Amino acid sequence: MRAELKESTIDLIYADPPYNLSGKALTLVNNKTGGPFYKMNEKWDTWSYEDYLEFTDEWISEAWKLLKRSGSLYISCAYHNIAEVMFSAKKAGFVTKNILTWYKTNAMPNLTRRTFTHSTEYVCWLVKGNNWKFNYVALKEINPQRTKEGKPRQVRDFLDFVEMPIVQGRLRLKDRNGRASHPTQKPEKLIELILTASSNVGDLVLDPFFGSGTTGIVASRLGRKWIGIEIDRKYVRVASERIFGSREYQYA
Ligand SMILES: C[S@@+](CC[C@H](N)C(=O)[O-])C[C@H]1O[C@@H](n2cnc3c(N)ncnc32)[C@H](O)[C@@H]1O
Repeated sequence: MRAELKESTIDLIYADPPYNLSGKALTLVNNKTGGPFYKMNEKWDTWSYEDYLEFTDEWISEAWKLLKRSGSLYISCAYHNIAEVMFSAKKAGFVTKNILTWYKTNAMPNLTRRTFTHSTEYVCWLVKGNNWKFNYVALKEINPQRTKEGKPRQVRDFLDFVEMPIVQGRLRLKDRNGRASHPTQKPEKLIELILTASSNVGDLVLDPFFGSGTTGIVASRLGRKWIGIEIDRKYVRVASERIFGSREYQYA
């Protein structure tokens, strides 16, 4: 990240890093499918535990350097990696402001029947200094909490708990064969909430794990400048088509 970007230039970083949960087969009792069931199986998401700790430390300390003093870092994570992410963030010097819980209203059914059904992910909101941005007035307009009359309630009623479905149906990007173009496309509404809360029009937003380009789409719509970093050319193409409507893009 540091080779291309200058220190203390970014207003907001939204990061949706690998969760390190791929390749972990789930053998179901009475499984009749003839093989193990993989929740997710992506090369970029498969690490040894030590390597994952090192990787998490590295990118979070880079994020610290790139952010302005008023900057915020929002990190998507799940129960698999929240401990590692929070530990690295604290080591780097970040202070936690909130941990948003995203309740996935259409979460996967509980196949094993050996745990409570997993239906939540988190977004950790971390700040670098005391001048973090929190746009109370703009958030009031999109506050899902409404009065009996349907008007937006005060932001003090805007909970650190958001309910929204996983991206499915016509909102899900698909390839020519009708398969999902990216395995972990995040809801635009979730990114809209983050960008509205902690950045202003004209601010520079960085997404170091760009995937299908959700942050780019939302940032453009909200009048923010943005930079996306993505390691996989396939997904660079997906994001480029989504944002610019063409396959035209250049590699650095
Ligand atoms: C969880 S996904 C992000 C999905 C994205 N938020 C979206 O809505 O489409 C993580 C992405 O990070 C990419 N990635 C993994 N390691 C990376 C690295 N070291 N540098 C840049 N991108 C990386 C993966 O290829 C994957 O597309």
